[in-house]
Amino acid sequence: MKRLAIVLFLALLICIALSDEESQTCDSEILATSCTPEDGNQSHDIFELILAEEYETIDPYLPNCIKELKKRGAHRCWHKHSTFLDHLLGVHNILRFWGESEVVARVGLFHSAYSNSYVNLALFDPSKDRNIMKELIGPEAEEIVHLFCIVDRQKVVVETLLVQGVIPMQGLHVPHLRNEDETVYLSPEILRILLVFTMADVADQYFEWQDVLFGGSDKINSMLVPGTDNISKHQSKSIWPGRSSPGIWMSYVSQLGMVASTYNPKDSNLDRKIPPVFGNCTQILSRELEIAAIELYWNVVTNEAHQSDEDIIDKLQMAVTLHPYFFEGHVMLAQKYLHANDNILALKSAEKALELIKTWGTSYDKRMAFGAWVSWTRVMHQRASKELGWPSSSWDVNNFGLVL
Ligand SMILES: *[C@@H]1O[C@H](CO)[C@@H](O)[C@H](O)[C@H]1NC(C)=O
Ligand SMILES: *[C@@H]1O[C@H](CO)[C@@H](O)[C@H](O)[C@H]1NC(C)=O
Ligand SMILES: *[C@@H]1O[C@H](CO)[C@@H](O)[C@H](O)[C@H]1NC(C)=O
Repeated sequence: MKRLAIVLFLALLICIALSDEESQTCDSEILATSCTPEDGNQSHDIFELILAEEYETIDPYLPNCIKELKKRGAHRCWHKHSTFLDHLLGVHNILRFWGESEVVARVGLFHSAYSNSYVNLALFDPSKDRNIMKELIGPEAEEIVHLFCIVDRQKVVVETLLVQGVIPMQGLHVPHLRNEDETVYLSPEILRILLVFTMADVADQYFEWQDVLFGGSDKINSMLVPGTDNISKHQSKSIWPGRSSPGIWMSYVSQLGMVASTYNPKDSNLDRKIPPVFGNCTQILSRELEIAAIELYWNVVTNEAHQSDEDIIDKLQMAVTLHPYFFEGHVMLAQKYLHANDNILALKSAEKALELIKTWGTSYDKRMAFGAWVSWTRVMHQRASKELGWPSSSWDVNNFGLVL
């Protein structure tokens, strides 16, 4: 019995380590005049289309894809802080926010739709369903989805690309996951897609609970950082979803981005796409700074009542200085500046937040959904730009829409 439990536990660990999901098959009427954003280019913008969930306009293939995923139960599978369907759509959306093509975003949507050798629960069976998949997402995207399922993604991304720090110009020949005698060729373009997709995959799903699960509260051991996983540090009984503060993943993603940015297409007509995060992937965030910034941020979130406004502002400023890549600190700063009736600093913070929001396409603080962060930040932006200050009646706060 005990041995069985250990085997099951190890199997579970492998699934989680292999990054996841494969294992699962405005009350504002009183004040609001309009919810039209004043900071962006509205409906033509991919950002607005995604917020509006206008999937048909974003990519005509999408409505059918989503229907098929639901038919196969993706909306009923648990996945980290949401459902599997939400995760797949989240990865798809981030890829489009990052300027990737429809094809690459569809790869994100179906990234683990076929099983791999570690798990046999999958939404599609590669021995029977490849034609269905080709029809759903097109042959080009299907080919890449299939490639991602026959190689050991963890080995390629973490043990090879991250270690070497570059995308090899000649590509990589790697073992076939199910057939050791066979090798699979991954071109530089495919390696770039694999890296960028992995960045989006981590960004969408990771929050503090995974850090606690693998390393406890000290956050030294991590499922993300190569070589730090240590089963004796696991807290597998951590109650889901825990406190749900931001997880420590941006430092890892900044490293992946740096590798992705080494992609140099032979054909100079090919677009050299780089995710817009971390200054177009030219900067690395250290894990130490990320942890320090999140401690300051979380200290404000959890101790708000016991701190002066000055302390809160100091801590948030320190947090966004140590770690300039997350928007939530700027959002809270915008609110604090509005409390102090400093519309100029509030506007600066809200603008910075919106700029970062548009580069990420997902939230770091996963307590709230991305759309909620965007709309709240826009309220802060509007109050600052119209010099509305902050109401003293909580009725007015509770009734914020995007208001005048
Ligand atoms: C908004 O988008 C439209 C259509 O794409 C374009 O013509 C217009 O110049 C854009 N406006 C701004 C302010 O970017
Ligand atoms: C894992 O953690 C235990 C307990 O803290 C320690 O004794 C052991 O050396 C660690 N193992 C590795 C491989 O770091
Ligand atoms: C990132 O690249 C885009 C497009 O090439 C450019 O407009 C933008 O200014 C760059 N951002 C940074 C921070 O370098």
